[in-house]
Amino acid sequence: MLLLCTFLTLCLSAVHSQFPRACTTDEAFRTKSCCPAWEDGSPCGTGARRGQCRNMLVFQGFVAGQVPQYDDDRLGWPLYYYDSMCECNGNYSGFNCGDCKFGYFGDKCDQQKIVVRREIRELCFVERKRFFSYLALAKTTKSKDFVVLTTGDRHHRDTYRFVDASIYDVFSWIHYYSMKPILLNSSFDSSHNYAHEGPAFPGWHRLGLIFLEKQIQLMTGDKDFALPYYDWRGENNCSICTNDFMGDNDVQGIINPYSHFSFWKSICSGFYYPDATCPVASEEYQMERLHRKPGTNPLANRLPSFQDVEDTLKWGDFDTLPYNNTARRSFRNALEGFLRPSDGMTLERNMHNLVHMYMGGTISQTPISSNDPMFVLHHGFIDKILETWIHKYNGTPSTYPDNNELGQGPNECSTPYFPCYRNKDLLRKSTDYGYKYSTYQDM
Ligand SMILES: *[C@@H]1O[C@H](CO)[C@@H](O)[C@H](O)[C@H]1NC(C)=O
Ligand SMILES: *[C@@H]1O[C@H](CO)[C@@H](O)[C@H](O)[C@H]1NC(C)=O
Ligand SMILES: *[C@@H]1O[C@H](CO)[C@@H](O)[C@H](O)[C@H]1NC(C)=O
Repeated sequence: MLLLCTFLTLCLSAVHSQFPRACTTDEAFRTKSCCPAWEDGSPCGTGARRGQCRNMLVFQGFVAGQVPQYDDDRLGWPLYYYDSMCECNGNYSGFNCGDCKFGYFGDKCDQQKIVVRREIRELCFVERKRFFSYLALAKTTKSKDFVVLTTGDRHHRDTYRFVDASIYDVFSWIHYYSMKPILLNSSFDSSHNYAHEGPAFPGWHRLGLIFLEKQIQLMTGDKDFALPYYDWRGENNCSICTNDFMGDNDVQGIINPYSHFSFWKSICSGFYYPDATCPVASEEYQMERLHRKPGTNPLANRLPSFQDVEDTLKWGDFDTLPYNNTARRSFRNALEGFLRPSDGMTLERNMHNLVHMYMGGTISQTPISSNDPMFVLHHGFIDKILETWIHKYNGTPSTYPDNNELGQGPNECSTPYFPCYRNKDLLRKSTDYGYKYSTYQDM
C-alpha cells in the first residue's frame, strides 16, 4: 500500500520554474503582477505592514535603455512574466510576505534561529534516518506554494504550462531551468547560463540549498532541521555510496534496490536540452531512475584533496575578468572547478566540477544533476568552502563584481527565485541566512 501511494504521488507530482502558484493565474499574467494576498486579504500583507507591491523596474534599479528584450524568458528575471512583485519589510519574506526571512521564526518573525549543518558522517543513526525520511517526504509531497513551468517549444509562449511538482522536484527543476542555454535573437547560446560559469555560481547554489532546507523545515515543522554535507577531501572512494548512506550501485550505475533512493526518478530526464523546458513533463513514465557510477570515469577518477581546497582558499579575489570559465586567479573559478587551484592559471576540471564528474550518472549530467540528493551533500560542502572564504577575506555584498554575464549582475535577481534575492546579497555570512557549519575536519 505504501508503495502504491508512493507510486501514485510520484506520477501526479512528477514534472518541471519555481513560480508561486498564486502568480500563475490568468489574472496574474494579464496584469503582469505577482503580488498575492496574504491571509489578511491584502496584497503582500500591506494591511499588516508586512510588505508592499513594488514595480520591478524601480526595485531592480534598471536604467532606461538597459531593460532587456525578452527573447529568453529568464532575462531580466522576472520581468518577462511580471512587472511587479512583493518587497517585504523587516524580517518578513516570501512571495506574498507571508513568511519570515531565512533564519527567522514566529508570527512576527522576531525569533532568530541558527541551525548547524553537519557532515553526514557526524549524524547519529537516528538523525541520518530522519534526514532520509524527510527527503522521501519532500520527493513525494506536492508543493502547495510552487508550480513549475513546462513548455513544448520555447519560441511559442502559448505552449507554456504550469504544473504541480513535489517539493524536491521544484528544487531540482529550479536548477534545470536556470541553466538551459540562453535564447538570444532566436538562436541558442550555450556558453552562458544564470547559475554557472560566472560570479553568481556560489551564491546561486547557496540560495538553492537554503530554499530546500526551509521547505523541509516548513513541511515537517522541524525548525532544527539542517541539511548535512559531504566533506569529500582526501577520500579514496565515495565512502558514503553505501546503502546506509546514499546508496550502493551496480556496474550499470543503477542504485541498489535496498537503498534509500532506488525508487527516485529524475525530472527533466530525457530532455531535449536547448529547446524545451521539460519535454517529458507529461510523460512521467519516461523518466529515468537515478544512477551513479563513482570512480569509473577515467577523466575524473579522484576526488579533490585537502591541498586542492587549501589552494582554492588562497585566492583572495572573489572573481576576476572576464568573469567566466576562463577567469584566472579567481576564487570563484577555482571553486567552481575550471581552474587548477594550485597555480590559478591552468584551465582544468577540478574541485566542484571534478566531484560531479567523479560521481558519474545523473549527477554528472549538469542539467539534471540536482535530481540526485548527492548534489545537496556536495553543494553543502562547496558552500562551506564559500563560507570559509567569506570569513577569511571579509567578503560582503560589495565584494561581488560588476560583470557582463547575463543575469549575474550584482543587482540582478538570482534566477529564477521568488521573491528577488540580488546576486550580491548572497555573499553575506551564512548566519544572516540562519545556518552555520560544524567544525568537522576544519579548514
Ligand atoms: C528581526 O528579528 C530580530 C531578532 O529577533 C529582532 O531583534 C528585530 O527587531 C526584528 N526586526 C524587525 C523589523 O522586526
Ligand atoms: C540581436 O540582434 C540585434 C539586431 O540585429 C542586434 O542589435 C543585437 O546586438 C543582437 N543581440 C545579440 C545579443 O546578439
Ligand atoms: C573504499 O576505500 C576503503 C578504504 O580504502 C575500502 O575499505 C573500501 O573497500 C573501498 N570501497 C570501495 C567501494 O571501493
